[in-house]
Amino acid sequence: MSSSSLRILLVGNGGREHALAWKLSQSPLIDQIYVAPGNGGTAKGLKNVQNVPIDGGDFSSLVKFAVEKEVNLVVPGPEQPLVDGIEKHFRKVGIPCFGPSEAAARMEGSKTFSKDFMKKHNIPTAEFENFTSFEKAKAYVASVGHDVVIKASGLAAGKGVLLPTTKEEAYEALKEIMEDRAFGDAGNEVVVEELLEGDELSILAFSDGYTVVDLPPAQDHKRALDGDQGPNTGGMGTYAPAPIATPAVIEEIRNTIIKPTIAGMRKDGFPFVGLLFTGIMLTAKGPKVLEYNVRFGDPETQSVLLLLSKDTDLAEVFLASVEHRLDAITLKTTSQFAATVVVSAGGYPGKYNKGDKIEIDPIETDDTVIFHAGTAINAAGDLVSSGGRVIAASAVADTLEEAVKKAYVGVDKIHLKDKHYRRDIAYRALGEASKKQAIEFTYADAGVSIDNGNSFVERIKPRVKATARVGADAELGGFGGLFDLKAAGYRDALIVAATDGIGTKVKIAQQTGINDTVGIDLVAMNVNDLVVQGAEPLMFLDYYACSKLDLDVAADFVTGVAEGCLRSGSALIGGETAEMPGIYHDGEYDAGGTAIGAVERGQTLPKLDALAEGDVLLGLASDGVHSNGFSLVRKIVSHVGLSYDDTAPWDGTTTVGKSLLTPTRIYVKSLLPVIKQDLILGLAHITGGGLVENTPRMLPDHLGAKIDASAWPVLPVFKWLGKTGNIPKHEVLKTLNLGIGMVVAVRPENVAKVTQLLTDNGEAVYRIGELVNAVAGEPRTKVINEDSLY
Ligand code: AMP
Ligand code: GLY
Repeated sequence: MSSSSLRILLVGNGGREHALAWKLSQSPLIDQIYVAPGNGGTAKGLKNVQNVPIDGGDFSSLVKFAVEKEVNLVVPGPEQPLVDGIEKHFRKVGIPCFGPSEAAARMEGSKTFSKDFMKKHNIPTAEFENFTSFEKAKAYVASVGHDVVIKASGLAAGKGVLLPTTKEEAYEALKEIMEDRAFGDAGNEVVVEELLEGDELSILAFSDGYTVVDLPPAQDHKRALDGDQGPNTGGMGTYAPAPIATPAVIEEIRNTIIKPTIAGMRKDGFPFVGLLFTGIMLTAKGPKVLEYNVRFGDPETQSVLLLLSKDTDLAEVFLASVEHRLDAITLKTTSQFAATVVVSAGGYPGKYNKGDKIEIDPIETDDTVIFHAGTAINAAGDLVSSGGRVIAASAVADTLEEAVKKAYVGVDKIHLKDKHYRRDIAYRALGEASKKQAIEFTYADAGVSIDNGNSFVERIKPRVKATARVGADAELGGFGGLFDLKAAGYRDALIVAATDGIGTKVKIAQQTGINDTVGIDLVAMNVNDLVVQGAEPLMFLDYYACSKLDLDVAADFVTGVAEGCLRSGSALIGGETAEMPGIYHDGEYDAGGTAIGAVERGQTLPKLDALAEGDVLLGLASDGVHSNGFSLVRKIVSHVGLSYDDTAPWDGTTTVGKSLLTPTRIYVKSLLPVIKQDLILGLAHITGGGLVENTPRMLPDHLGAKIDASAWPVLPVFKWLGKTGNIPKHEVLKTLNLGIGMVVAVRPENVAKVTQLLTDNGEAVYRIGELVNAVAGEPRTKVINEDSLY
């Protein structure tokens, strides 16, 4: 598109449309923007923007006008015209529409449709059932054990969602929607879904049907009154980016929700072009979709558009979307924060006055913008109120606190009789942010307590001390640790080191409150990696990071680390406990660690020159899932609706949580004596990648492994996971250990001796395969009898 030749018809009259017109009018591509019907804010004051008095539902007049004015892009703001199929009216006359087709708009127009879509495409959302029969809906409500939310399926201007607190209220809500028809035809069908708890996020994302580009995550304030009290409204204020949406959360939302949604819609034959707004609840079980909207949010748009960098041309983004070349666009956002405070007429969302005069004092800075919503210019040329949500002040600044302050300064400049606004916009995030600002003054204000940290060290000292060994004294509080290799009997030692984390197994520890075993996993992951190099683990250091130091949890965790060190003969010589408010969610922690060990020169494993075709592979039993594949495991568990407190379906003597938390087996003390006798040629620790990918890691290029899957008892937990998750066998072999945690390569003549020694040392040993010559182009590990796995 050449410069200044774009003529846009923007449909709508809210704050969202004023914000869109404001941003679009800054584009050098724009010749003219027509807003139908627009409001007091789009009526004057914006370059190349004018209102046209056509109703947003009058498609034939809109089309006639657009053809006459040679409009080359239509942008419908609200959902109603999109659900009613405005896109096809313009498609017929060859004018592209930045907005979805009627078929794609069903994602907002029918909640039953969107819920079925999510179910089909495995997109996380609240448990639900759809109903057209009042009696059946009632029976379902009576049968479920969780609190429910009742939603009229059709469009109900944001009011069709009822949140009953008792069964009686739920029956009442069903009656109101289905029998009394409080929302008319919108209530012909209802969704009854599980009540989700957590923080809400609004994710606005552009799509051309293929590519998807999301805007900074926003948080809305739906209730009319401070502290999230009072009735639901269209939205009383927003801020963005919401700090609860950490980069990891955003990534998860992109991968589990936004991308699968856009791909699913395309696959199902109704690709999405336009802006998809996904309402998300950040639950304890991860982000879940509350609803889809097929248009920009109001007042989210007022905040997020302020975060687009000056050189990001919104008109160009719209054009790229309708021309299916969004991948060619880079959408740049600033690293600032934006906040929007909505000013409503007194009484809204109940009865309120219209036609009241509005005056706005001049605003000197360009980081504060007043966006009109329910305003109009009356016959006398005065600006007056014409709707419930009248006007809003939006501001942008380097910190969220500053942005909110400025938005309120903006609100003070708006004069309207009986004006109402919430005084606590962004209060959830500001709790954290204001603490962060105080970091220069006191560390404690910032949520970090040095005293707490010190008493924690006192608490864990005795456990750590217990790990002292020849060569290292394991005292905390110094700047590091020393190890005396000579004292430990080494003559000509090589140093070996390994570092690793626990992975998402920590989430199960946090959710069950069992925090004293994942430290063992952490040590195990590291020391098993050392022993496969022939090395003896000598020292260990751990790193524990959390949002808020909970002494009990952290002490439990270190207890586990100390236990792991005892089991592996390592001295726990130090570590780091980091308290970082805002980096992790409340109650969350993560941990990593490093093991350091030694091996005499010439005794390292694997013995690449000695390994040969025909050598035997022995498998040492694992204790359970160990520390890999937990993202998959958690997914399967949550998919079947199991709670970690439920009895494990694979083991009636314990719970799901306890069974999954069984610590990773540490093979150091059983293997080292056998290694010292020079009976082992190579070792493979079975971690992520399973038997298939880990076994070849000890082999020279010319050798491969042949493994018989029927040679060892597959643990019941793996059989259950494999069957329940319907995991393909080749996939499971690459993800889970299936009952073998360590593979040992030995010469055939040593099999009996090694088996005996390891068995005496407490291992269960299975002859699981042998080494074969690698065949070019074929997998390094060949598994036979896969079908016997489960
Ligand atoms: P919706 O129009 O579906 O987004 O619903 C409007 C509001 O109702 C949401 O923004 C939430 O605050 C609330 N809501 C909707 N569904 C649920 C749910 N399953 N659990 C908890 N709150 C919900
Ligand atoms: N602010 C919520 C919405 O636009 O639906």
